[in-house]
Amino acid sequence: MSLPSSISPIRWDNNQLILLDQRYLPEKHDDFFCSTLEQAARGITDLVVRGAPAIGITAAYAVYLGFMQHQQDQNYDLSAALDHLINARPTAVNLAWAVDIQKLILTDDEPAKAQRLLVNAKRIHQQDLEDNIKMGDFGAALMEPASRVLTHCNAGALATAGYGTALGVIRSAWSENKLDKVFASETRPWLQGLRLTAWELAADKIPVSVIVEGAASSLFSRQQIDWVIVGSDRICANGDVVNKVGTCNLAILAKHYGVKVMVAAPTSTIDMDTPSGADVDIENRSPDEILAQKYASNELVSAWNPVFDVTPAELVTAIVTEEGVILQPDKHKMMSLMNTNHP
Ligand code: MRU
Repeated sequence: MSLPSSISPIRWDNNQLILLDQRYLPEKHDDFFCSTLEQAARGITDLVVRGAPAIGITAAYAVYLGFMQHQQDQNYDLSAALDHLINARPTAVNLAWAVDIQKLILTDDEPAKAQRLLVNAKRIHQQDLEDNIKMGDFGAALMEPASRVLTHCNAGALATAGYGTALGVIRSAWSENKLDKVFASETRPWLQGLRLTAWELAADKIPVSVIVEGAASSLFSRQQIDWVIVGSDRICANGDVVNKVGTCNLAILAKHYGVKVMVAAPTSTIDMDTPSGADVDIENRSPDEILAQKYASNELVSAWNPVFDVTPAELVTAIVTEEGVILQPDKHKMMSLMNTNHP
């Protein structure tokens, strides 16, 4: 058990949603203020806020903001606005999960909807922090002393309410003196690993060594890595894990080198309505994110930028949630964790 990180990517203050603008970290620490649903949706699309749980929390507050807009202007089309919000980023299921929970309040017959929507958004926010700390403990319990780990992208305080899923496990393992070495892959093209994960870990005085993604095989063959530890944007009913592009590459390499793969994610990231990774809408972002580097600009040169991939369940050693751990996930274990007969 460790204390939450001091980093808060999402704040609610003075009836405004305030997002720490992750586009400019770690160089600049700017706030991005949202007083409308559309501003929050823009913040999600533009990666001001990112990471599945943080996107879900932001969306929960955004529904409250949209409801207030509707209260002030009956012509404001809240239903269209909610559709727009859900599509702000298609892959992270926490977004639709949070909007659906808020919709239950919107459509019930009880009064005081505004107050309940805000209270519920704050509850989702607080619950995520508590869940992360539980996952941190569960994940750290799977690790031996002197473990060497590699994480990918940023599944830390910045991607959640403030402790992290994968980085929560790393924080907890560090506080239990179980870590020998932490590696972070830089995560092209947006550099979540280099810019965000390295900054977060250093802020908590956890040493971290950054690798380019292409160095993973060299790392596994020479450094006796024990675990790849990542978060997820959506875990399907059969245990397939959708996460930052490059995760599946790491899982395939991990199998070759006998490295274990841990996926830490709250149950809000589990989507029992999606049978397998083949059914997931993988977000393609602008080629400009790749072509922003210096290159020989030419009409014959383009770029393809899918930002997530699917790791088949059979490559995953453990899924760690706040409700418990599944080893070697499959459809039946997922059903029993989620207590459902789905699908
Ligand atoms: O494109 P991003 O930065 O939103 O991608 C984030 C990830 O892939 C994370 O690993 C995932 O959302 C889990 S965050 C706890």
